Amino acid sequence: MKALGIDIGGSALKGAPVETRTGRQLAERHRVATPTQLTPAEMARAVAEIAGHFRWRGPIGIGFPGVVHGSRILTSANLHPKFIGCDGGKLFAKAAGGPVALTNDAAAAGLAEMKFGAGRNFAGKALLLTLGTGVGSALFYRGTLIPCELGHLPWKHGRDAEKHVAASVREKKNLAWDHWGRRLGKYLRVLEAILWPELIIIGGGVSAKHRKFFKYLKPRARLVPAEFLNGAGIVGAALWAEENS
Ligand code: BGC
Repeated sequence: MKALGIDIGGSALKGAPVETRTGRQLAERHRVATPTQLTPAEMARAVAEIAGHFRWRGPIGIGFPGVVHGSRILTSANLHPKFIGCDGGKLFAKAAGGPVALTNDAAAAGLAEMKFGAGRNFAGKALLLTLGTGVGSALFYRGTLIPCELGHLPWKHGRDAEKHVAASVREKKNLAWDHWGRRLGKYLRVLEAILWPELIIIGGGVSAKHRKFFKYLKPRARLVPAEFLNGAGIVGAALWAEENS
């Protein structure tokens, strides 16, 4: 089966058609930059632009950086606040002119990694973290996906952990790799104390530079970089569309 996977992120949305049996992208991804915060209506137009670019007529899966219950968006920590309470599935389906299955962006990335990437053939408890504008998280136990919001764990001075450990924080504050790595390591150890994953997969663009910071993390679990690097969100969104259409 083929599905169009779209990954909505903090600075751009990206999409590509995916062969869901193999996880292969069937065309070069199309990217729409979002230098300013888009309203839901503007985002729907951008989604339609991606579907139009591929002249897409089939199922569409979308990963959104917030809590998604059914097709409804409940939180929007890093995107426009107007998304909160919005029926994203319905809005995007109307704009794209086809069925849309919506899920959390990190949940989508996790699906791709567990099926075709760093977690394939792993049947135990795995934690996937995506480090980007925020921190995305998903837990897998024997193949069952549980979307999480571990980036919002109250951290220093009660502020969300993602405000301290996201990859965007390292860039903005120009933190040295060892400094940021140790910070992230502390966070991982708290997550490990309550979740006890056997495998931790680190995704997001920064995972391509894992050699610069993995040595400072020192978790108990086996630690691996995501294999899709930044493409997991697209592939996983397409898998979600397949499962839900
Ligand atoms: C959001 C999550 C999302 C993560 C990564 C967080 O701020 O609450 O839903 O998965 O950012 O985009």
